[in-house]
Amino acid sequence: MNPLRVLTGITTTGTPHLGNYVGAIRPAVAASLQPGSESFYFLADYHALIKCDEPARIQRSTLEIAASWLACGLDPERVTFYRQSDIPEIPELTWLLTCVTGKGLLNRAHAYKAAVDKNLAGGAEPDDGVTAGLFMYPVLMGADILMFKAHQVPVGRDQIQHIEMARDMAASFNHLYGEHFVLPEAAIEESVATLPGLDGRKMSKSYDNTIPLFAPREQLHKLIMGILTDSRAPGEPKDTEGSALFQIYQAFASAEETAAMRQAYAKGIAWSAAKEQLFERIDRELAPMRERYQALMQEPARIDRILRAGADKARRLASPFMAELRHAVGLRGLEGLGTPAPAPKAAKASLPQFKQYRERDGKFYFKLTDAHGRLLLQSLGFDAPREAGQLIATLAQQGSAALANHQAQLEPLAEVGLAELDQALAQLRDAAQDKR
Ligand code: TRP
Repeated sequence: MNPLRVLTGITTTGTPHLGNYVGAIRPAVAASLQPGSESFYFLADYHALIKCDEPARIQRSTLEIAASWLACGLDPERVTFYRQSDIPEIPELTWLLTCVTGKGLLNRAHAYKAAVDKNLAGGAEPDDGVTAGLFMYPVLMGADILMFKAHQVPVGRDQIQHIEMARDMAASFNHLYGEHFVLPEAAIEESVATLPGLDGRKMSKSYDNTIPLFAPREQLHKLIMGILTDSRAPGEPKDTEGSALFQIYQAFASAEETAAMRQAYAKGIAWSAAKEQLFERIDRELAPMRERYQALMQEPARIDRILRAGADKARRLASPFMAELRHAVGLRGLEGLGTPAPAPKAAKASLPQFKQYRERDGKFYFKLTDAHGRLLLQSLGFDAPREAGQLIATLAQQGSAALANHQAQLEPLAEVGLAELDQALAQLRDAAQDKR
């Protein structure tokens, strides 16, 4: 069975805070260690451009978020960790999806509607200050998800509508052009509570009440001492209900530690003492990661290398898939269209072909030629015809993504582009499907 594929994006507009850690980073890293699933995590920097026009901030945030995820234990060998803007196939797919997405669907997107409602309430033109980027946000997100055939997309509740829209786009495309996309589902983690911030409201950049995930120890201490509490004096019993301090403690502590804190509240622990305990508990979990984070922040070039390697891995899937999609919508080479009403035989001749043969050395070979007989791929010798056949099947299925694992069995491709190769293989797949 295919592994469950999980994918999520992180917009690169800010510095990760404790709420991001508890709500997204920690559960994602834990999930990525589960066997039987395959994770894709990426830095959504094209999305960041929609909200932010400060180049330095986008760049800085990309570094901080990548370093944070790595410091928290994300293993780039195990998962596919990349930067959205390193994948040129994403904007390409965005356009194909744009052309199958109803404008009316996008009119109903929450973020766009909120902007319009605000304008109308203020007596302005409905689209005042609204960029086409904001309007198109869900399509770009759809491309992120559909490109990698993700089954599950872990997101916050505010993003559920976007996943539903991605499903709609996938269904429209599949209906028009055949089954190419997997329909994704939102994965909402019920057990992960939203963390309150310094003032008791949800921890969020927009409320300016956050605690940066990797604030230095002294700053972390100072911020925690500033968490809003009520005015009960030491010795007076305190309510855990509605206490931001308690909720944050619970997000880090074990069940026993939480029970002990609950008792301390009942017995009237002083707020300052409770804060000290909270600080020590959080710092215990974060200190080793903070050290890794600081080391990573000193090595931006290393992070760039990790992200580029992730993009290479991602593109081994994206590039052949994009070739398949281009072909599906009719962005194809023109060969084979020359003869009017081609006879069946001519039609067959206008397809790429795998040819298997045996050489004097007794070994078995194959080659792939395009519709005009131009050589696209040449194998080295196999001891058995079955081995040659297996590699042909793999190539037919996976396209150029299969090359990396089979370099030893193939002649290096000199003048043939991966896109050309993928287009030929997609053509063969389509022909096989038509026959069925
Ligand atoms: N819109 C998401 C957010 O703001 C970020 C994002 C971009 C994303 N592309 C995605 C999340 C694809 C999941 C899948 O949180």
